[in-house]
Amino acid sequence: MRWLPVCLLLLLSACAQQPPKDDSLYRDLGALPGITRIVEGMLLNIARDARIVERFRRVDIQRLRNKLIEQFCVEAGGPCTYTGDSMAESHKGQRVSRSDFNALVEDLIASMDKEGIAVPVQNRLIARLAAMRGEVIEH
Ligand code: HEM
Repeated sequence: MRWLPVCLLLLLSACAQQPPKDDSLYRDLGALPGITRIVEGMLLNIARDARIVERFRRVDIQRLRNKLIEQFCVEAGGPCTYTGDSMAESHKGQRVSRSDFNALVEDLIASMDKEGIAVPVQNRLIARLAAMRGEVIEH
């Protein structure tokens, strides 16, 4: 029993070194069911988007759907693991332009609007994805 306070102290300091994970964005997006609807809505919008649909003609859409769900979940602080290729790898040689990128983001926003996601929440997800822009475009 003499060691109990020491053990507790060690445990507490170990906890203090791990900042609590902020999953508020994940929850605000409706957790996994909400993110799934957002990704599927975005893919449907892309399918109707003459600006970029050609780029997805020969793509395994089922895989893309699954990887996007994982990725959005991770970016939003949710309890997922991303198992897909890196952004640089998956977009290599595609020469994705700034306007392609903006078109996809518009399709995502339209999907989030449809899901009733509040604009500040939308902006938090967009900001996370915008950080990947350099790895996606013009490679
Ligand atoms: C923030 C923006 C974007 C994100 C987060 C993103 C994310 C992803 C992810 C997670 C994958 C799947 C990787 C895998 O299969 O392992 C992927 C693949 C792909 N992305 Fe993007 N993407 C973005 C922008 C774009 C844009 C603007 C285009 C073109 C208009 C595009 C075209 C593609 C294509 C064609 C694939 C399939 C590649 C293949 O299967 O060989 N992406 N993307």
